[in-house]
Amino acid sequence: MSSETGQPGERIAKVIARAGLASRREAEAWIAAGRVSVNGSAISSPARNVTAADAVAVDGKPLPVRERTRLFLHHKPRGRVTSHADPGGRPTVFAALPKGLPRLISVGRLDLDTEGLLLLTNDGGLARALELPATGWLRRYRVRARGRVEQAALDRLRRGVTIDGMRYGPIEATVDRVQGGNLWLTVAIREGKNREVKNVLGHLGLAVNRLIRVSFGPFRLGELPPGAIEEVRTRALRDQLGERLAALAGADFAGPRIERAAAATASEAPRQARPNGRGEPAREGRPPRHRGRQGGAEPQQAAAKRKPRDSERIGEPERARREKRRRRRSARRPRR
Ligand code: URA
Repeated sequence: MSSETGQPGERIAKVIARAGLASRREAEAWIAAGRVSVNGSAISSPARNVTAADAVAVDGKPLPVRERTRLFLHHKPRGRVTSHADPGGRPTVFAALPKGLPRLISVGRLDLDTEGLLLLTNDGGLARALELPATGWLRRYRVRARGRVEQAALDRLRRGVTIDGMRYGPIEATVDRVQGGNLWLTVAIREGKNREVKNVLGHLGLAVNRLIRVSFGPFRLGELPPGAIEEVRTRALRDQLGERLAALAGADFAGPRIERAAAATASEAPRQARPNGRGEPAREGRPPRHRGRQGGAEPQQAAAKRKPRDSERIGEPERARREKRRRRRSARRPRR
């Protein structure tokens, strides 16, 4: 049953987006262009629900099996646009990701010059649920800003503030240290409005010149190197979302995990942020823990530096041949 329409099944554009083919908006455009069919008949309106019993096809090709809901932590470097394509030709977050990942979208955006933790997912429903103001996961930033401010002025932000007609919700901000003409602050917000940190601090006379997101809800940037991407294990993701958010997102944790060509160098290493019920990181600054090959890979940069193990470079038959040769050689070696 769709939560949007009260009809059985789900909106067709949502189903196409969940299959990882496109965003919901792109899917609606495909429908309008007559590229989508249901049970063999082309449709022209997105106002259509489909169930598992319906055969949906795009350009005559059946939808791929829906992959399970996946979430990735990415360290966005400064200078990349949070977008799949930029009309101005600037580097984008998505173009720089390693090959072999599912089609990902971001949970909200970071400005071009903002660095730090960006959540990426293959599930549009999850992205929307995490972006909802009602979800209210805490986003914590380390901020460098030019100027001076009294802590009392920062404390007043806890009540929220209206700037140029825009209402910003409660903000926690503290000065951590003074560095020449700059201040380093920690700022925590829950809404994530466009340019929220810069606008609010600008209102207090502070000009932000470095902005690093260090956590989003229970997920932390930790020691993830700039440009790296790391997958959250399915179990950890399910635990962190909890039943309510998972249902709101329509998340699917039981579906297959599709292995793609040029296997992802992204890792499924868990940021085992323990749930604390407040959507806050369990422990700040703890380096990420990486699992061995069993649970996925290690972060791509570490993987690139280390000499690959035989098991990663060569296939099973070649490994068996090498092992046999090794055994023969050691049998021929004279015993002392
Ligand atoms: N606040 C901002 O001003 N910019 C960001 O990118 C994120 C939060």
